[in-house]
Amino acid sequence: MVTFDRHRRLRTTAPIRDLVRETHLVKADLIMPVFVDATITGKEEIASMPGIYRYSLTSVLDEIKEIVALGIQSIIIFGIPDHKDDVGSGAWEENGIVQQAIAQIKAAYPDLVVIADTCLCEYTSTGHCGIVKDHQVLNDESLIYNTKTAVSQVKAGADMVAPSNAMDGFVAAIREGLDKAGFQETPIMAYSVKYASSFYGPFRDAADGAPQFGDRKGYQMDPANRLEALREAASDEKEGADFVMVKPAMAFLDIVRDVRDRTNLPLVAYNVSGEYAMIKAAAHNGWIDEAQIVKETLVGIKRAGAGLIITYFAKDVARRIDKQR
Ligand code: PBG
Ligand code: ZN
Repeated sequence: MVTFDRHRRLRTTAPIRDLVRETHLVKADLIMPVFVDATITGKEEIASMPGIYRYSLTSVLDEIKEIVALGIQSIIIFGIPDHKDDVGSGAWEENGIVQQAIAQIKAAYPDLVVIADTCLCEYTSTGHCGIVKDHQVLNDESLIYNTKTAVSQVKAGADMVAPSNAMDGFVAAIREGLDKAGFQETPIMAYSVKYASSFYGPFRDAADGAPQFGDRKGYQMDPANRLEALREAASDEKEGADFVMVKPAMAFLDIVRDVRDRTNLPLVAYNVSGEYAMIKAAAHNGWIDEAQIVKETLVGIKRAGAGLIITYFAKDVARRIDKQR
């Protein structure tokens, strides 16, 4: 007689399936993105990201209140300034939009972990993540301004900075800048493996940070490359990153797994704007079951090895976790 394994024994009932489930999504895994906008008065929905808004300084606390009430413990904050220039001064001014928002949020919710995205693209007139000369994004010059930005964000009260500017040496430069300013205890969540991806499209509408010429392929990674991702993650770890990140998530889960297997640092995956937009659009058309697709997506990201997920679905998921109880 042919013998075979009876895998179905462990799938017979819901409680048995619960017993053998290997991956669990919990609220502590979730980081919710928040956009603060110096050019508006109330809140404005982002057209390509239904359910996600830009908030003025006067309306952002209502959003934070909701996030906290849902049991989400951390946010990542992005700013849209009221002026753009060559050096992205709106990113590092003492009373820049993000600095003001951080101060206000931390004053009202001291226990919420506030992570500041550290980049210049929303603040430069070129829309690039660094300083441009002769149509070139200069690496070392850009480090100076990205470091100023990180320090100003931490001075304003950020618990952590998440540099996304993709310059070489950005972790080392920011670590040195923070240490010199007396912030030795402030962690750096490095966007270590950041692909030059079309999945950021809706974000660039949201944050008004699309490059005005060219693209980001000179500093962000080629989606075709795996070994390069491992080199990027290794550099950031060596430079003193406290977290490493892979971004985007869904088309890069092999990279999430590869990085997980090679570092002992906490690993973050960014479920980016385009991934959110695709699911929302298909769900809106009635083509997929949104709640199930989101769960499967986020569980898949965790199963691939991410411990933390930055996701625009964080509030939706937290609400559903509450309902399961
Ligand atoms: C800024 C930044 C971007 C994202 C996070 N930080 C845009 C980019 O690099 O072009 C993308 C996030 C998303 O698409 O949700 N550098
Ligand atoms: Zn940028």
